[in-house]
This record gives sequence, structure tokens and C-alpha cells, in this order.
Amino acid sequence: MEQFADRRYPSDEERLKWFREAKFGMFIHWGIYAQLAGSWKGREIPGIGEQIMRFGKIPVEEYRQIAKDFNPVKFDAGEWVRIAKQAGMRYIVITAKHHDGFAMYHSHCSPYNIVDATPYGRDPMKDLAAACKEQGVRLCFYYSHYQDWDDPDGVVKAPSWEGAWPEEGKVFEKYMNDKALPQLTELLTQYGPVGILWFDTPGELSHYNARRFNDLVHAIQPECIVGPRISNDELGDYIGYGDNQVPASGNPLPWETCATMNDTWGFKAQDHNWKSPAQLIRLLCSIVGKGGNYLLNVGPTAEGQIPPESVERLHAAGEWLDRNGEAIYNARGCVLQNEAEWGAVTEDGAGCLYLHLFDWPQDGRFILNGLQNRVRSARLLATGEAVPFRQESAPAGDGTVERLTLSLPAGAPDPYVSVIRLEIEGKATFDETPSDCAGRVTLSAASGTLSAEAGKPAFAVSKAGILEGWSRTEDFISWKLRIQEPGCYNVTMNTFTEKYPEEQKNGMDWEGGHRFRLSCAGKELDFTVTDDGRSHPRDLFLWQNVATHCGALCFEHPGSYTLSLKPQQLCFEKGLGPKLKSLVLSRK
Ligand code: GLC
Repeated sequence: MEQFADRRYPSDEERLKWFREAKFGMFIHWGIYAQLAGSWKGREIPGIGEQIMRFGKIPVEEYRQIAKDFNPVKFDAGEWVRIAKQAGMRYIVITAKHHDGFAMYHSHCSPYNIVDATPYGRDPMKDLAAACKEQGVRLCFYYSHYQDWDDPDGVVKAPSWEGAWPEEGKVFEKYMNDKALPQLTELLTQYGPVGILWFDTPGELSHYNARRFNDLVHAIQPECIVGPRISNDELGDYIGYGDNQVPASGNPLPWETCATMNDTWGFKAQDHNWKSPAQLIRLLCSIVGKGGNYLLNVGPTAEGQIPPESVERLHAAGEWLDRNGEAIYNARGCVLQNEAEWGAVTEDGAGCLYLHLFDWPQDGRFILNGLQNRVRSARLLATGEAVPFRQESAPAGDGTVERLTLSLPAGAPDPYVSVIRLEIEGKATFDETPSDCAGRVTLSAASGTLSAEAGKPAFAVSKAGILEGWSRTEDFISWKLRIQEPGCYNVTMNTFTEKYPEEQKNGMDWEGGHRFRLSCAGKELDFTVTDDGRSHPRDLFLWQNVATHCGALCFEHPGSYTLSLKPQQLCFEKGLGPKLKSLVLSRK
């Protein structure tokens, strides 16, 4: 500790600078669980691979034996770092110890580690630290500080199982003093500078003990960032959303979403549910556009190799970033408060605005409403080709709709996301009042006003942009919108399912039958919520979107309107209620 004693404690802003600029990181879940690859005694164990000990109810003594076969002879630290770097990832967070309690580095306070307990006998973190240093990638450690299924005093998330350490008589502080804090000290002193100490599942960890973890990190390495899951309260240096959870709206504070490439974190031979390169690249744009970092996971095999399916996808991401990286690294998000339905927006702060188009318009016309700045030029980022454009102001009620129309070449310049670079005057400002764009208006729950007939509303919009807890008919949501082209519009209501596939199988994922009334400009439209078709929502892979065709609403004049959605009767038998995501109006 002495060597750092005279160091000034850097401000959050200084400490987080590299993190904010990094945008894209590699999460690595690697442990002796990879040896089982998702099966125990010939049986496939459902659930995430790194927790096979818990899901398979494997007794401590038996699980320990796996270490004897763990020999990742194909592990090549330089290769892993090259894969991350080529993908455009600027930091790596690797599991130094997961909930199973096994240290994937040379620990001197517990022999249950890769050097002392496996035939491999080497410390892969030493090699990774060297490779990261050489290639200029930040090395960060994941450390399961609260749960430890191997330590007699460590926490096991309930329910425990036969062969796990008995719950009676456990003294958490004993585990903390004898294993967790000493191991944390090792991680912070044996491998050079650590970018982030990424803690996980704080459970019931007391504030006092969370502080001890936090203060130890900062005492040894003042520049090291403390991850958001250190505790359930205000500790942690940035915001972390749940696994695979992406917020619907931008957040200007530093944040990160960690996400899987298939459904597991630790390697599982049976998990082939890979997201496509397009989904991953779009998620990167979406997260960065909302101001965050994307920590994308790989689960290497017991031999020490990153699965080829992951390598392939990372390669595609890297190639996309080679063509379009300026719009990611050189840019900030949060230009728009609400998610752009068609893609994402970033800005460089010096007059460049980047429009990330997920789908290339078939008719060669892309319309953007609400941009208040004058546009000087428009070009395809990847090729530099100029894009003809027109800006106009359309009167609509109490305001105008500023409309930018781009005339795009036929055929998308990029198979995943095509970026258009606009040079604008001043810092980008948007009027995000919903308005019709190419015959369509989207009213998202996140941009609505929540009210109650009397008192305060009892429902709320979650970070994922889903209206939850709609159990009272006196609660309603409304939007102000601008219509430029009058006429009749078909209304579709999008409600969301619960997020877990198990619940989807049991039919417990979605509830319909609610009766609603839409009111707008003195007209009413009554409808019942039915399942008229499901689709995958963008950014939220564990959910499904259920569409309901509600009927049509007509607007006689261009102008400003207020539209409200009020329940007449709500069904709450499954305890779910209507989880509204959006209403979409499309011109007939
Ligand atoms: C959850 C899981 C853990 C996994 C982590 C990744 O907290 O408990 O197994 O490592 O998510 O974010």
C-alpha cells in the first residue's frame, strides 16, 4: 500500500474518463465450470453455465474434483486480447473468482486456485495482464465478493442444496476477512493497474461491509473504478443496469450494460441461441446512443478457447467499427432523450451529428423530425459520399415540425448499421414532441405523461421503458403530438411479456382482456387488448412484444393534439396487467 500513499485521490471525472471513452468492453466468464460445459453426470443442467454447481445441486466435495481435470492447454492470452482489440473493445473484465469460489489466478490465501489445484499449474491472469499491457487494453477483474459456495462461511443464494455448506453457524465476516479481502488485495497488487473491480450479487451485504470492499480498492489503487454491483446502495463509481437490460431513454451519467451473446455467461455446449452480428452491432449503437458502455460476454471453453461463434461475431463488430468507429468512439450519446425507433444518434460535440440507421429505407427517403439546427452537409460516413438533403418547417398547431429529408442512394452502404454524418451549426437540439414521420407516429410509454383521476398515479415506467403496475382504472397516460398530414391512422398497442422464457412456456408471460378507451380531439376509440401477433423487441432480447390492433383514429386538420389512453376495465389475474410499451399510429 505504501507505494500509493502519496497519490492524490483522482476525481470521479478523471478516473472515469477512459471508461466513458471506451464504449465497448469484453466480459469473460471463465472458470472450472467450463469443464462441465452445461452437463453434470450425463444430464444437461438448465440455467446459466457458470452457476451449474447451484443449478445441478453439486456437492462441494464433488465439484472440487473438476479442478483436477481442468487443463486449458490452448489458452493464449495474446490471442484473447487480440480478438477483443480487433473487435474494437477497449477493456476486458474477467472472472477472477465466480460464485463457485474457485480462483482463476494464483491466490496465496486459498489453495483452491488454478495454479495449486489444476494440472495446468499456471496463472492465466499474469499472461493476460502482460498481453493487455502490450496491446493497450485495460484489464479489469470480476470478483464475486458476497457469494462463495466453496467457503464454509460464504453466502449461498437460497435455496441451498445437499452437500453445500450448512447454513447454521456461518460467519460472513470470517469469509470476508480470511478470503475475500485478502484475495481482493492480491488482485490489486499482483497484476499491475486494474481498470475496474467488478463486484457482483451483493445480496444482503451490509453497508459497512460494502464500504470495506470499496475502501480497500481505493486505498490500494486509487484510480481503479469500483463496479456498480458492490452494494445495493449508493456505492459504486458508475451505474450498472441488470444483465441484458438496456434502458429505453438516455442517461447522461456514466453507465454500462453487460450482456450475453447467447443465453449463458459461462460456456455451455448446448447453448446455440446466438444473437446475430446485426443484433449485436445495433445494440452497441443503441447503448452508446443512450450514453452507455456495452460489456459483451464470451464464455471460453475448458481448453481455453473463445468459441468460434463468438469470434466470428466479434470480428464482424470490429469490421463495422473499422468503417464507422468515428460515430462511436469520437462521440457522445444522449442527444435524444427517447429511443429513436429507426436507430441511434451520437454527436461529437464539435458540429457532427451521426445518424445510425438500422434499416435502409426502401424508397430512398429518410425523414428526421425535430432537429432544430441548420444542416451544412450530409455524407455517408463509411464512403464519404454526399447525401442530398432538404430542411423545412411544417406548421402544426401551436408549433412547427422541423423536417429534414435525406435522399439516400439505393442499397444500404452497410449490412448492419449505416451511419450518416451531418455537419450542423451549433450543438444538436431536438424537439422530441411526437409527430408524424412518413405516415407514422410512435407514442412510447417512456415519453407519456402519467396521471390519475384523483391523487397520484400508482403505476410507473420502468428503466426498460415499460409501464408497470397498471392495476387501477383511475390511472391513465397521455401524450401531446403534432400531426402534419391529417387523415385516418390505424392504432396498434404494443404490450410486453414477462422476460423469462420459462414463464413464456407456462403462458404466465402475458395478460390480455383489458378494455381501453383512446380519446383524442373529441373522438373515442374503445378496444380490448388481444394477442394479434408477437415480435422481438429491439434491445431487449428476453422480452416479447405483443401487438393489439385497436382500430382507427382520424385527424381532420394539421395541428397539435392530446391523446389519452384510459382503462375501462383491467384484468389482473396473472398479476401482470397491461405492460404498455408504445402506441403506434400508421396512416391508412
Ligand atoms: C448474474 C449472475 C452471474 C453472472 C452475472 C453477470 O449476476 O448471478 O452468474 O456472472 O450476472 O452479469
